[in-house]
Amino acid sequence: MQWDFQDIHHQAQTEAQAIDSLQALEAFRLKYLGKKGVVAAVFASLGQAEPGQKAAIGKGANDLRSLVEGLIAEKQTQVNAAKAQGELVDISLPGTGGAVGRTHILTQTMQEIVAVFEQMGFVAVETPETETEFHNFTGLNIPIDHPSRDAFDTFYLDAPDASARGRRLLLRSHTSPGQVRIMKEHKPPLAVIVPGRVYRPDAVDASHSFMFHQVEGLLVDEKVQFSELKGLLTEFCRRFFGPKVIMRFRPHFFPFTEPSAEVDINAEILGIQRKKWLEILGCGMVNPKVFEAVGYPKGKYKGFAFGMGVERMAMLKYGINDIRLFYENDVRFLKQF
Ligand code: DAH
Repeated sequence: MQWDFQDIHHQAQTEAQAIDSLQALEAFRLKYLGKKGVVAAVFASLGQAEPGQKAAIGKGANDLRSLVEGLIAEKQTQVNAAKAQGELVDISLPGTGGAVGRTHILTQTMQEIVAVFEQMGFVAVETPETETEFHNFTGLNIPIDHPSRDAFDTFYLDAPDASARGRRLLLRSHTSPGQVRIMKEHKPPLAVIVPGRVYRPDAVDASHSFMFHQVEGLLVDEKVQFSELKGLLTEFCRRFFGPKVIMRFRPHFFPFTEPSAEVDINAEILGIQRKKWLEILGCGMVNPKVFEAVGYPKGKYKGFAFGMGVERMAMLKYGINDIRLFYENDVRFLKQF
């Protein structure tokens, strides 16, 4: 049998051009490459072919198969694209993607504060939010029935404190009990930073919340001076608020430090007009009575401590004027940080 390969190639190309559906494509494939298709017929004819023509027929069959395979591949892509376009989904549109979350501004601020002290050699430790009266008050030289307790209004729990008869458990009103816990368990030298939540039964308004965050610092060694505390906190404020910050140490009273001070920063630098000075933290030299309460040998150690409110630091740094914004978790607010 004679095969006009040129003609067959031409015909296959013409037929391929007309293909516009997957069904037509499959029919085309069967017609040429199927068991009873043209390529198979060409190979089958080899048996009866003149010996001199076999090579040409074999080559013709192979060429035809390659050509048809190529045409099918090309058409397959075209038909797929056309089909996708006909559907409602436009596969060329960019995807919508999922919303990416972020760290809450308070967590960011707390991490930033902790990181500054970590760079200066402090170790971050977390202590419980449920505390004993001893850790929250007595160990910090705030005796029961002493008026200084009034400054630390407290949520008490119904649960009794199993470790001290007659005493109640409470939600810590500051992070300072972390000092007592850490000193009871470790010997100096110590340099720790204690971030966490604290609770006070305050009526909620623009500057008060029944729950807020503090970061406590404590350093104890054999020789520690107030000047070192000043140097450390000055460096901290520079790193946190920027190098231009202006601060002052103002004498104050805390039962657990002696002498004690409060640190104020100059409001103008932060672009706040309301007041000249803004209080940011309390600090001082650890009161020897606290060392006594944790069982350290008398007169052996000196130390300093400080405590700051995280909300306050974030409000000053970012110009936030209402503490409630931190807890409402309105995404329009949170997204700004
Ligand atoms: N605990 C104090 C408060 O909540 C803050 C404070 C003041 C912490 C002086 C200290 C300190 O460690 O030395 O108001």
